[in-house]
Amino acid sequence: MRRRALLDGGIAAVALGGAGLLSGSLTAAFGRDGIAPAAAPGTTGAAPQSAAPAVGVPAAQVPVGGSATVKDPTSGDAVYIVQPSAGKYAGLSSVCTHSGCAVNPPKDGQLYCPCHGSKFDAATGAVINGPATKPLPTYAVTKNGEQLELGPQQGA
Ligand code: FES
Repeated sequence: MRRRALLDGGIAAVALGGAGLLSGSLTAAFGRDGIAPAAAPGTTGAAPQSAAPAVGVPAAQVPVGGSATVKDPTSGDAVYIVQPSAGKYAGLSSVCTHSGCAVNPPKDGQLYCPCHGSKFDAATGAVINGPATKPLPTYAVTKNGEQLELGPQQGA
């Protein structure tokens, strides 16, 4: 009789323990009110959208003789959008054709490379002074309303 009581008690304890474990796992999965917990903010699994690369600037940022810098969306190189004379726009690569240094923005109608002293025409990219022998690559620039948009590299 005593043995039977112990056995019955053991089974009951195991059953209660199992129910507790089951209850605990359901609570973890669905929360105490039986509703699945909401995802934490910012954890929806959707990839964050990255900003499109800048390929244009407002025309007001490019005065005659001045420039604005954008990135070539293909190479990632900096490109100067210039306005050498009123209403005429062009894009000039900032990568020196001598050994690849970054040329300075246009000043007094020229772009100067600080590495070895090459100078380029700020309207066309043509070499004014070596050691560079090739002009700076150019880009088409289109005015669309009040926005200047960088086109593809020309003659590359
Ligand atoms: Fe520009 Fe040499 S890299 S002059």
